[in-house]
Amino acid sequence: MAYRLLYPLRTYLIVSGRMSEEVNVMTADWVTVLSHKPVLVGVAISPKRYTHKLIEKYGEYVIAVPSKDMLRDVWIAGTESGPDKLSFMNISFMESKTVRTPSIREALANIECRVVAKNTYGDHTFFVGEVTGYTFNKEVYDSEEYAPKKLSLFIAHVAKEKFTRFSEEIIIPEI
Ligand SMILES: Cc1cc2nc3c(=O)[nH]c(=O)nc-3n(C[C@H](O)[C@H](O)[C@H](O)COP(=O)(O)O)c2cc1C
Repeated sequence: MAYRLLYPLRTYLIVSGRMSEEVNVMTADWVTVLSHKPVLVGVAISPKRYTHKLIEKYGEYVIAVPSKDMLRDVWIAGTESGPDKLSFMNISFMESKTVRTPSIREALANIECRVVAKNTYGDHTFFVGEVTGYTFNKEVYDSEEYAPKKLSLFIAHVAKEKFTRFSEEIIIPEI
């Protein structure tokens, strides 16, 4: 597929549902920022996914940033369907600040989104979420700039079961 030429792409965990009712996690590469003010972040999700059903039902999702130590869970969340997969994953949940969909405690960051628009493009639904809250690991991100500090903890998807991670090297353009 030609879209593979855009890879490596960062990969994320999408949390959907409610702790008290049903909660699910799926892996997604097709996540993008759409607006600065308000902050809008969208994700393309196939209607075949259980997650699609839960986002339609509750109108919320959390984008969790996995670390390299969560790779096994990233793979399970991206290959198994429905909340039963959680019983053989290692993540734990914590309350989010502004939505009732929980966040993932082990994630490097969690971005809380309320669906403000959705549209179908080809075989995926693009959900647009307004960011209403977030939490992040202060040892991993700079607290003022929100820029990542420990780059080698971050992963990106290459193809199928292949992933990569960043080096700590920072490169600056010569101006
Ligand atoms: C690395 C990776 C990235 C993925 N990215 C997406 C994506 O962006 N959108 C999507 O609909 N499915 C994507 N998938 C597939 C879903 O994660 C997969 O079908 C999952 O089992 C759906 O879980 P659910 O049915 O419990 O929601 C990806 C899978 C992997 C392994």
